[in-house]
Amino acid sequence: MKYVVTGAAGFIGSHLADELIARGHDVVGVDSFTDYYDVALKEENARDLDVQRLDLAAQDLDLTGVDGVFHLAGQPGVRSFGDVFDIYTRNNLVASRRVFEKAALAGVRVVFASSSSIYGDAERYPTSEDVEPNPISPYGITKLACEHLARAYAREFGLDVVLLRYFTFYGPRQRPDMAFARLVDALVRGSSFELYGDGLQSRAFTFVGDGVEATVQAMERGVSGSSYNVGGGAEATMRDAIATLERVSGRTLDVVERPVAKGDVRRTAPDASRIERDLGWRATTPLADGLQAHWEWAANRVAAS
Ligand code: UGA
Repeated sequence: MKYVVTGAAGFIGSHLADELIARGHDVVGVDSFTDYYDVALKEENARDLDVQRLDLAAQDLDLTGVDGVFHLAGQPGVRSFGDVFDIYTRNNLVASRRVFEKAALAGVRVVFASSSSIYGDAERYPTSEDVEPNPISPYGITKLACEHLARAYAREFGLDVVLLRYFTFYGPRQRPDMAFARLVDALVRGSSFELYGDGLQSRAFTFVGDGVEATVQAMERGVSGSSYNVGGGAEATMRDAIATLERVSGRTLDVVERPVAKGDVRRTAPDASRIERDLGWRATTPLADGLQAHWEWAANRVAAS
């Protein structure tokens, strides 16, 4: 098959592209290499890939001969209040509208990377896909709007789309603004880590390899028009995660306490029964194993530099 991966130089997109190639598929990677974080890291992620520079909000995606689009490109990060909102609307909503329209016209399936942040402080835990979304961050609001847009294109233009709600993916190449990337970096370098809030907020941390597997299966077998929670297996508080990483690394973290970050939810915990029923997928990597892999990757990188 020939697949387009948008955001192919990003954390999840680069893992997905690597995996698709390993399975024998042709991959057209595109990425606009925004400077939200160090572009050198994106270039390193995409080292073994052929990634075209393309700004989806302004330029057309060529879908000739393409069997499916994994649309992972976007402006990430839940801590997203302020003037940066223009970037979120442009890189999430404006860009996705163009991708959905092109794919609908070309009759090509889209797997869209949405986010657990659309639930906000959810009405129920574990949270199923039917719980009413109530995002509390501008980022989550743009992701939810993208889902609505995808559904509108599905209804009016026959877009074949599967919506995946990713729950805090971690592992090698994690974006440097995310908690675990900062944690392992602080442990490797012996610098401090800023903990937002009391550390008792929890997440269904999801190892990137598990998430990539779900994403590939969604393209192959996901029910058109469905949304799926992609997460689980490893709910932990930040305090638990820090303790596990200290054990894994054999080091002690210097924690600096900071106020709760605006836009941060208290808890995420998916009900993943729909994806298990339709795709037979569930997260299998225990947090300690995933953190071990994340830690070793970060430690080796620093040792090699
Ligand atoms: C992550 C991603 O950043 C989003 O792009 C993604 O859509 C989202 O997961 C999701 O699952 O929907 P988040 O859960 O906030 O968002 O992930 P982290 O950045 O890893 O933060 C986890 C927790 O660590 C948060 O409570 C945060 O406040 C805390 N944190 C983060 C710190 O205490 N210190 C930091 O320096 C960074």
